[in-house]
Amino acid sequence: MKLDRILPFARNLLQRAINEGDYAVDATIGNGHDTAMLASLVGETGHVFGFDIQKEAIDNTTARLREQDLLNRVSLFHKSHDQLLTTIPTETHGNISGAVFNLGYLPGGNKEIVTKPTSTIEAIEHLLSVMKPEGIIVIVVYHGHEEGAIERDRLLDYCSTLDQKRAHVLMYQFMNQINNPPFIIAIEKR
Ligand SMILES: C[S@@+](CC[C@H](N)C(=O)[O-])C[C@H]1O[C@@H](n2cnc3c(N)ncnc32)[C@H](O)[C@@H]1O
Repeated sequence: MKLDRILPFARNLLQRAINEGDYAVDATIGNGHDTAMLASLVGETGHVFGFDIQKEAIDNTTARLREQDLLNRVSLFHKSHDQLLTTIPTETHGNISGAVFNLGYLPGGNKEIVTKPTSTIEAIEHLLSVMKPEGIIVIVVYHGHEEGAIERDRLLDYCSTLDQKRAHVLMYQFMNQINNPPFIIAIEKR
């Protein structure tokens, strides 16, 4: 298949936005796959800020980063991503070049603990205020579970009404696949 699948498409967008020495955010670290990817993109001179409300996610991500010798490039916060603005250092405000959300539940974890539309949208608002121009927020939307469908609808409402002078908003989705496959919303700050 020549078309990018969903996760490679997300990775390409982040690669395009993030350079060595940059700041980046993983808003939902989970098992740390994206955190590790962001940490490689920012290199030794950059830094990644990661958030999750589950201690299990912090532990799993810490172990992954340690294994890959990336731990010193990352600060992990055991808090909700809607605390971003008061959590990341003020000198990074205006200088974040990429951010990622993987919505839904922790793979292999408690499926009852899921991302919620109100805090997800609040975190996107925080990010829009601290990203640099042309910084990209990539959101992978998993909507196969009941709460995921509610979050999808709230997010689509919010994203489709974001002022076009403020951000370019893109949706990337396979339209004819069964079983509600994930799709991407990408927001580029103007
Ligand atoms: C789909 S998983 C992330 C997967 C991750 N990208 C990986 O590589 O494994 C979603 C994560 O979001 C976390 N989460 C849910 N609500 C959150 C919130 N308000 N703030 C930060 N993380 C949250 C969950 O605990 C879960 O670990």
